[in-house]
Amino acid sequence: MLGFRIEEAGGPEVLKWQSIDLPDPAPGEIQIKHLSCGVNYIDIYHRSGLYPLPLPTGIGLEACGIVVALGDGVTALAVGDRVAYGTGPLGAYAEASNVAADRVVKVPDSISDDVAAAMMLKGMTAQYLLRQTYDVKSGDPILIHAAAGGVGLIMCQWANHLGATVIGTIGSPEKAELAQKNGCHHTILYREEDVPARVKELTGGAGVPVVYDSVGKDTLEGSLDSLRPRGLMVSFGNASGPVPPVDVGMLSQKGSLFLTRPTLFHYTQSAEDLARTAGDVIDVISKGAVTIDVRQRYSLKDARQAHQDLEARKTTGATVLIP
Ligand SMILES: NC(=O)c1ccc[n+]([C@@H]2O[C@H](COP(=O)([O-])OP(=O)(O)OC[C@H]3O[C@@H](n4cnc5c(N)ncnc54)[C@H](OP(=O)(O)O)[C@@H]3O)[C@@H](O)[C@H]2O)c1
Repeated sequence: MLGFRIEEAGGPEVLKWQSIDLPDPAPGEIQIKHLSCGVNYIDIYHRSGLYPLPLPTGIGLEACGIVVALGDGVTALAVGDRVAYGTGPLGAYAEASNVAADRVVKVPDSISDDVAAAMMLKGMTAQYLLRQTYDVKSGDPILIHAAAGGVGLIMCQWANHLGATVIGTIGSPEKAELAQKNGCHHTILYREEDVPARVKELTGGAGVPVVYDSVGKDTLEGSLDSLRPRGLMVSFGNASGPVPPVDVGMLSQKGSLFLTRPTLFHYTQSAEDLARTAGDVIDVISKGAVTIDVRQRYSLKDARQAHQDLEARKTTGATVLIP
């Protein structure tokens, strides 16, 4: 089969389209012929070396496809089932992959291939952030950075559905309009405006109980200053660069704050956790509370272009690659 591999870390040019030998699925695995592959910011960290990987390696963690072969011992799935996965293994930017049967979910007929390829990593992230890391309650004002991005648009809709007052930061007026259409009540242009001052203004001076920060280096300080006393800072990404070391004493000075740095993998480590988290995502999509907006589609071979556009902040919502 054909797919992308990387032999060294670097820019989009290190993504090499090549012929790959895919073995038969091992015991407990299924082989999936991909119909649509999800693009995520973590793919850029893997490619650039910000999150170092043993090289050479495949790349990409999320896809939807058809089961074409079963490894020994797999009984819960059948050849012909349409499934999706979002926690790897690395190698989703390819025509097919072998995945442990307990890391995939069956996709209901009502969900398209592209939505399924975009809902697993990003949707499960929104789920654990809003329901588990901090359990968002009706009436909570919350701050979400990069609100018009892939994870951002899902979080805005889901938080709105939970009854939160959603404050979102974004990079341009066009993105602000999109975030608002997706349930974001107040938008802040964080490249121009003073984020903590606007958050305080919008919350009657109180600040928010939780900040979801995937931007990292550029937003850390403003995020901490937007929290109310004993608020929770959730640092879950670093699109602008790695978060600098944090002075723990600062958390006391800024209001006895809590700080966590979660990843999806720890929230979906067991098969039961994965099934429950994905089930919740499928549930909100099926009842129309969350619509996954696949706004960019590229041919799989054009993954380099997809990376360039995502890094250049040209994309909004979800992006998929079509084999
Ligand atoms: N920890 C976890 O479990 C987990 C899981 C999934 C995703 N994530 C993180 O969540 C974030 C969103 O992922 P995504 O795939 O949905 O990406 P995305 O939000 O669609 O794209 C990243 C966005 O970040 C904003 N941004 C701010 N400063 C930037 C900069 N210097 N360079 C590039 N972008 C910048 C841009 O929006 P504006 O133009 O509006 O600023 C950009 O569109 C990423 O940081 C990702 O690593 C974490």
